[in-house]
Parts: sequence; C-alpha cells; structure tokens
Amino acid sequence: MKNELNIVLICLLIFMVSCKDKKNEYHNIIDKIEDLSKDYKPVSLSSETYIETLNKVEVIENWQRFYIPERKSQIKSFECNECHSKPLSELQNEESIKKSHWDISLKHANLETMNCVTCHSENNMDKLHSITNKPIDFNLSHKLCSQCHQKQYKDWAGGAHSKQIGGWAPPRVSQTCVGCHDPHKPHFDKRWPARYNTQMVDERN
Ligand code: HEC
Ligand code: HEC
Ligand code: HEC
Ligand code: HEC
Repeated sequence: MKNELNIVLICLLIFMVSCKDKKNEYHNIIDKIEDLSKDYKPVSLSSETYIETLNKVEVIENWQRFYIPERKSQIKSFECNECHSKPLSELQNEESIKKSHWDISLKHANLETMNCVTCHSENNMDKLHSITNKPIDFNLSHKLCSQCHQKQYKDWAGGAHSKQIGGWAPPRVSQTCVGCHDPHKPHFDKRWPARYNTQMVDERN
C-alpha cells in the first residue's frame, strides 16, 4: 500500500516538473490566457458618444430597456389642441371648403375595424388612446401598435424588426414603428429596384 502511494507521488512530481519546461510553460490554455492577459487593459465598447446629441426617450418594453427617438417635435401639426379646443362635432360643423387634414386618408385596416378615433382621442387630441381608452403619449405610439401587432412588437423590443440608430454597442437606440410606417398607411408599396434594367425591357419589346 505504501509503495503504491510512493509511485503515485513520484508520477505526480514528474508531471509537475515536466510542466515547467520551456515547451509546456502552462498546464492548460486557461492558465496561459490568464497569464498573458495580466496587463491587458479592456476597451469599453459603448455608443454613448454617438447618441448623446440625439433627442430620445427611454423605454422599458417586454423587459428590455432601450431608447427610441422623440416624436412630438417631429409632428407638424402638434400641438393638436391649438385648433382642437372644441369637440370634433363642432369643428366639423364649421363650414369650410377644404378639409383640414386633406392630406391624410386612412389605408390601414378596413373601416369597420378602424377610423380616426380608434387611435386619436376626440376629447383630447394631444393624446392617443388604447382600445380600453387609456391615454397614450405621442412619444410612445408603439404602445398603440403593440395592441394589434404583438409579433412585430416583441421582435422590435428585442432589437429585431427595426434599425439601430447611433451605433451597434449598447446603449441601444431603436427606430420606432412610426419612424418607418406611416400609421395612416402602414403597408409599403412594392417598388422597382433602384437600378431598373431598361436594356432588358427594350429587348423584350
Ligand atoms: C390648424 C388647425 C388644426 C390642427 C393643428 C389640428 N387639427 Fe385636426 N382638425 C381641424 C379641423 C378644423 C377639423 C374638423 C373639420 C375638418 O375636417 O376640416 C379637424 C379634424 C380632425 C379629425 C377628424 C377627421 C375626420 O375626418 O373626422 C381628427 C382625427 C383630427 N383632426 C386629428 C388631429 C390631430 C391628431 C392633430 C394633432 C397631431 C390635429 N388634428 C391638429 C383642425 C386642426
Ligand atoms: C392606427 C392608429 C391611427 C389612426 C387610425 C389614425 N391615426 Fe393619425 N396618427 C397616429 C399616430 C401614431 C400619429 C403620430 C405619428 C408620428 O409620430 O409621426 C398620428 C398623427 C396624426 C396627425 C399629425 C400628422 C402631422 O404630421 O402633422 C394628424 C393630423 C392625424 N394623425 C390625423 C388623423 C386623422 C384625420 C385620421 C383619420 C382619417 C387618423 N389620424 C387616423 C395614429 C393614427
Ligand atoms: C386596432 C388594431 C390596430 C392598431 C392599433 C394598429 N394596427 Fe396595424 N393593422 C391592423 C389590421 C386589422 C391590419 C390589416 C390586417 C393585416 O394586414 O394584418 C393592419 C395592418 C398593418 C400593416 C400592414 C400589414 C401588411 O401585411 O402589409 C402594418 C405595417 C401595420 N398595420 C402597422 C401598424 C403600426 C405601425 C401601428 C401603430 C401606429 C398599427 N399598425 C396599429 C390593426 C391595427
Ligand atoms: C426600421 C424600419 C421599421 C420599424 C422601426 C418597424 N418596421 Fe414594421 N416593417 C418594416 C419593413 C421594411 C416591413 C416589410 C414590409 C414589406 O414586406 O412590404 C415591415 C413589416 C411590418 C408588418 C407587416 C407584416 C410583416 O411582418 O411583414 C407589420 C404588421 C409591422 N411591420 C408592424 C410594425 C410595428 C408594430 C412596429 C413597431 C413595434 C414596426 N413594424 C417597426 C420596417 C419597420
């Protein structure tokens, strides 16, 4: 029994000595990495410097914390209540030759599902509202879309189905739904490629 123990100890000693020779300076790759990275100064990757001048809002969506661009300052006719100081019915009764929002026509869901006041609040135009009539700030209009488009919303909150503004490293600034989709006409039309092959069309004719 004692002899066996001695043999084991000698083997162990040979093994430890053999590790110290030039060729195998390290026991294993982890030791090597730890030793060689002793003086390594890590570079911190951050988009902070690229996004600090962006006008943005912080959100927590689907347990993800990130930023989206501020919207209200981008909306031409905001604040709405500068004109919408009376109920809609009274405004609409005023005789006017041209509709105030002639440039907006709804091509979203069909008209039984949706009209202007599905999203806009008759009694306070400065706010959007949910299906259950909870006010939604114009800066947080994704909360409106998420009610009916959960799949795209969850992808968006995770950083897919969107575009990162500023940089790839955290903190993340994601484009918001209405930054790409017009809420009144959200579907994109089919388009020709930027370089249309006119030669091919000539040959076919
Ligand atoms: C310059 C004045 C003005 C501003 C600013 C304005 N509106 Fe209006 N809006 C009107 C008038 C007037 C009407 C009703 C008569 C009409 O359609 O011309 C109207 C009608 C509407 C209607 C009902 C449309 C319909 O066809 O029934 C909605 C919804 C609406 N506005 C939303 C908004 C929202 C949201 C904003 C802000 C982002 C806004 N408006 C800003 C003047 C304005
Ligand atoms: C699906 C929800 C939805 C519906 C339906 C809808 N809107 Fe909007 N509307 C929005 C959102 C969201 C914005 C803000 C978009 C942004 O941030 O640029 C907006 C913006 C506006 C603005 C301000 C646009 C500008 O650039 O000044 C007006 C005016 C407006 N809506 C009127 C209407 C009218 C009139 C109707 C009905 C014909 C209507 N909306 C239907 C969601 C909706
Ligand atoms: C009340 C429910 C509802 C709300 C709120 C809503 N949508 Fe929709 N949306 C629909 C329905 C219904 C359709 C048509 C059916 C479909 O294509 O999925 C549609 C269609 C679309 C489409 C076109 C889908 C396609 O296949 O081309 C896009 C894009 C879209 N919505 C984006 C948005 C965005 C962005 C918002 C927020 C500003 C929003 N929606 C708010 C119900 C809603
Ligand atoms: C960076 C731009 C961008 C952003 C931000 C964005 N989308 Fe889209 N979305 C697209 C494009 C591009 C398509 C594909 C359109 C096509 O195939 O015609 C699309 C497609 C869709 C569709 C149609 C179904 C599908 O998946 O093809 C829906 C619904 C939709 N988006 C909703 C949303 C909602 C809700 C948000 C916000 C939570 C959002 N999108 C944010 C660009 C964007």
